[in-house]
Amino acid sequence: MRLFFALWPDDAVRAHLAHWSRELHAACGGRQMRPENLHVTLAFLGSVEEARVAEIERAAGEAAPRAISLVLDQPGYWKHNRIAWAGASVVPAELEALVADLRGALLRAGVGFDGKGFVSHVTLLRDAREPKAMPALEPIRWKLDGFALVRSLTLPRGSRYEVLKAWRA
Ligand code: 2AM
Repeated sequence: MRLFFALWPDDAVRAHLAHWSRELHAACGGRQMRPENLHVTLAFLGSVEEARVAEIERAAGEAAPRAISLVLDQPGYWKHNRIAWAGASVVPAELEALVADLRGALLRAGVGFDGKGFVSHVTLLRDAREPKAMPALEPIRWKLDGFALVRSLTLPRGSRYEVLKAWRA
């Protein structure tokens, strides 16, 4: 199973993100991610034996879910991977603390994950061009109340993500 931990948007935030995605697509082209798949990755585990899922869930239960206000107010583009994304000009300290807490719990339990540092973003477009100018977009106010363990399924028509378990404040 391909697994990752994520901030999983509610329907209202998802609808706002889908709007950003359409606006950015007009500026950068590329492939729009499906609205139902949009998320912020907290820790990417990759391929994991199904038998280890219970242990991974136990480890994540050691991290305290927090209520956090996250404002996505910054559309951005990375040349190196041709991704256009939604980000926050201010990453709340509580969000950094949640990621440190979760990753610490995974490390203590011997659960492996991609060790690249956390960069708070929602990938909206892949294979995108660098835009001449970023569109002006209405900030998205996201009231986080926890995090989720998500499974990535590869289907003939693309990836589908499925929440296996959520931890709420
Ligand atoms: P990205 O959107 O910036 O590409 C599912 O693949 C999610 O895990 C994506 O949000 C992806 O981030 C993230 N991710 C982080 N590290 C990854 C890795 N090494 N391989 C694939 N996806 C990774």
